[in-house]
Amino acid sequence: MIKNDNSINEFLNQVNNKVRLSDFIGQFVDLTEKGNSFVGKCPFHNENTPSFNVSNDKSLFHCFGCKVGGNILNFISKYKNLQFKEAVRYISNYSGIPFIFDEKRIKTNAEEKLLFELLNHTNHFFNQQLKQNSFAYKYIKSRGVSDEAISTFEIGFSPDHNLLVNYLESKGFNLDHIKKTDLLIKNKQNDFFGRFSNRVTFPIYNFSNNIVGFGGRSIKNSKIKYINSQENIVFKKSQILYGLKQNLAHIREEKEVYLVEGYMDLIKLYCSDIKNVVSSLGTTLSEVQLQRMWNYSDIPYVCFDGDSAGINATKIISEKVLKFLVPGKSLKFIQIPDNNDPDSFIQENKKDDFLNLKITSKDLSTLVWDNIQDSIEINTPEFLAIIDEKINDMISKIKHPKVSKEYLRFLRSKKDNFIWEKNRIKTSKSNKTNVEVFIENINEKIFLLMIISEKDYVSEFQEEIFQVKLLDNTLEELKNKILKNLSDQQLIYSWSVNDFKDTNPKLFNEINELERVHIKGLKEGEKKLFFKQILNNLRLPFLVDERKIIQKEIIESSDNVISENLLKRYNKLSNEIKNIRNKDLE
Ligand code: CTP
Ligand code: MN
Repeated sequence: MIKNDNSINEFLNQVNNKVRLSDFIGQFVDLTEKGNSFVGKCPFHNENTPSFNVSNDKSLFHCFGCKVGGNILNFISKYKNLQFKEAVRYISNYSGIPFIFDEKRIKTNAEEKLLFELLNHTNHFFNQQLKQNSFAYKYIKSRGVSDEAISTFEIGFSPDHNLLVNYLESKGFNLDHIKKTDLLIKNKQNDFFGRFSNRVTFPIYNFSNNIVGFGGRSIKNSKIKYINSQENIVFKKSQILYGLKQNLAHIREEKEVYLVEGYMDLIKLYCSDIKNVVSSLGTTLSEVQLQRMWNYSDIPYVCFDGDSAGINATKIISEKVLKFLVPGKSLKFIQIPDNNDPDSFIQENKKDDFLNLKITSKDLSTLVWDNIQDSIEINTPEFLAIIDEKINDMISKIKHPKVSKEYLRFLRSKKDNFIWEKNRIKTSKSNKTNVEVFIENINEKIFLLMIISEKDYVSEFQEEIFQVKLLDNTLEELKNKILKNLSDQQLIYSWSVNDFKDTNPKLFNEINELERVHIKGLKEGEKKLFFKQILNNLRLPFLVDERKIIQKEIIESSDNVISENLLKRYNKLSNEIKNIRNKDLE
């Protein structure tokens, strides 16, 4: 409401007259002059070529990449995580142009302000107390937290509540007021005691860098391990990200962010020099928190505990975020091995081991598919129908039409693949062989193996081969390389499986394993048949998609001749699809 205030417009006019926007933004972003404006790399998304524009004439900035733009107030509030009022104050200080907020608003904020001050003093008191309480200090040190981290995260200790009350009174706070905060709890006998007493404390900051509450961890074996502040006018758990204030610079620098569950997860990663981390303080993730993370990184990594609770929470989040997906924004999911949480993992491993977990992280889309697949009793005859139902259920959650369309395509092709795999495993002769090693995308890898080692097939099935698009990006790139090499050299190419030995040893090993298990020992005819099966299986999703498009065209077409041609193509495709599916079921 205050944004429409005339006085704000007047203030902005004065600022714009006095301040060159490129000078101001130039403090935070490297800008070069180009024509009438200045350009640089956008501080709000990850980019290699500059698409961030600053116009002094208009006193506006705009990024053509992520579409963020606005005036000097918009810039600073986004860049420094400031609320509107704080942004105005910041610009007022910078420009020397005074701005006075209207009285009514100041009054409504008075209560908040008083609470912020009280919480600040409380935090200061808790910090002092940690130094004086050797048991608490030893506890936090025994958890492997450095002194630097203790001071960065302002870890403290809350003693008996009388001491806190005395301290706050000495700072001029009124006892009645203190009693109204959630720092004190009244029991049934009407006695007060401290919410955080005898706990190690962690101050929690909001996005405007005010302390809004605390977390307290028991240092003895209390049944209640953590206690947090209660929801109140300033503490809103769904609107904070623990550690953002302390880690913001690192997050910006890395342009990547990890989301963890706990205070200690974040602090221990920090101590191992992994500082681009925030915590949701539990396993729920709100839209506000998600959007905030997307400000810093297109694809944040969710890195919850590796126990069943964490895995389950991950699943819930993967469904919840579908609603908010837009092109280019997503999540990836890291699973920490052996029931560890980030804290215990980094205790036993090195920084690089943690960073390497990214390699095996799952895309949101893959996780969604895995969840569908896991929930299915494949032996029931109805399972096909159930998969479709679940796919539709997931798709209906996605609001953005383009994203939803891509998800539908992705999930359907996963489904086709899945059915085929199931049938193949049931009927495959190689069932007797021990295929305990889990290899992902078996079909795609066998396909690659065979176009390398059976060069004749490539010319024989050229047309079909070019229809195939592999879902795994690395494999698709490799396929394209191989096929490109082929067309350049007119069917003579120099690829051999050994070429991967150094560049992609994992793939090399897997391909050798697949060769051993699936191909070795097949007669020439069997081998070709096998290749055809694999090829058809990989084409199937594309044929199904094409048929769907044609079906739609038929329905929408009013021209009989066109319709007839389309119908022919439709029938041809249907036959082919049916043949492929029937063969699989043989
Ligand atoms: N949490 C909470 N209240 C609880 C339990 C947990 O608020 N009773 C939140 C805390 O923010 C905690 C996070 O959920 O940090 C993760 O919980 P959990 O995994 O149980 O705790 P850890 O972080 O592993 O705690 P610690 O390492 O201190 O034992
Ligand atoms: Mn934990």
